[in-house]
This record gives sequence, C-alpha cells and structure tokens, in this order.
Amino acid sequence: MTDLQQELARVLLSEEEIQMRIKEMAAQITADYEGVKRIYMVGVLKGAFMFMADLARHLRINHVVDFIAVSSYGRKGAESGEVRLLMDLREPITGEHVLIVEDIVDSGKTIHYLHEIFSGRQPASLKTTAFVQKEREHIPVSVDYLGFTIPDVWVVGYGLDYAERFRTLPYVAELKKEVVTK
Ligand code: IMP
Ligand code: MG
Repeated sequence: MTDLQQELARVLLSEEEIQMRIKEMAAQITADYEGVKRIYMVGVLKGAFMFMADLARHLRINHVVDFIAVSSYGRKGAESGEVRLLMDLREPITGEHVLIVEDIVDSGKTIHYLHEIFSGRQPASLKTTAFVQKEREHIPVSVDYLGFTIPDVWVVGYGLDYAERFRTLPYVAELKKEVVTK
C-alpha cells in the first residue's frame, strides 16, 4: 500500500465503473446534441479536468473545450463557502451550445453560481453535466447529465482532492474521517 492509500476508507467508484459510465454519458450527449454545430464544453478547474478529458474523448460530435477556475471563499480543506470566479473563459459564449462540466455537486452553490453567470451571456443553450452528486440536501440545481450519486462523505480521486492531494487517482475513494479532521 502506498502512503496515500492508507488514508482512504474505501473505494466508492472503481476505474472500470467510471470509464463505463462515462462512455454511456458521452453516447447520451452525442445523441441529444445531434444536428448541433458544436458543443462548447466548459470545464471547472481543477476538479473536472479528468472527467472533461475522458468525456470529451468519447463524444462523437463537434466540440471545443475551455476552462474556468472557481474557488469557494473559506474553503481550505472541506468546508463550503461562497463561490468566486478566479479565471474566466477566453471567448464570449453568445450563441454557443454551452455544456458546463463539473466534478461534484455538494451544496450546489458552485453549479448554481455558474448557471447564473453563463445564462446571462446569451448562449444558444445551457446544460450541465456533473461527474458525481452527493446524497444530501442542496440548493435546487439542474444537472442534465449525472454520472453517479454517492454518499455524503468527503471523496477524493478522479480529479477530486483533499487539500490538493489525491487528485490523480484513477478511482474515487472515501477519505478516512480522521484525515478530514486532522
Ligand atoms: P458546492 O458548491 O458545495 O456544490 O461544492 C462544489 C465544489 O466543492 C466542488 O466543485 C469541489 O471542488 C468541492 N467539493 C465538494 N465536495 C467534495 C468532496 O467530497 N471532495 C472533493 N471536493 C469536493
Ligand atoms: Mg470543483
């Protein structure tokens, strides 16, 4: 076992499960956007970088990728705060079919915030995909394509971190409680 693995409680989503589901999601998105000139995918850094890369590779429809960076005020490790835009898109999205690509819906604040700012920019359409959503109460958000629902615990891997660690694991695992509170 590596040092990193000793801090994990259990694997929630295996690499195989993730890859299978992402292929399904890509097929669904490809079908739904049939006839559209292109999709303008907006990945939310840093957490969505792996999901974006895998999802985009399986799309069979024209698309471009761009990224934004957000952070939550007061979020050091695991606590939730107010959302702040750290890096915006490079191009206007007026008339584009925008698909927001997010890693995880926790309180729902991030998705809600992004929906607000992008809908004000007159895209031709605006949809959201999230890799995972936690089973908990959150502010009402619309997620058009959801990968998985997971328990309300702190998870890491496949883009998700705890204090910048564990991001590049190819699977999703629950972090041991003692690591979160340390
Ligand atoms: P929300 O705004 O509360 O929905 O939180 C969304 C953001 O918090 C995500 O984009 C993640 O960056 C981060 N986040 C929430 N829960 C987790 C988790 O369990 N592991 C890693 N990051 C998380
Ligand atoms: Mg995020």
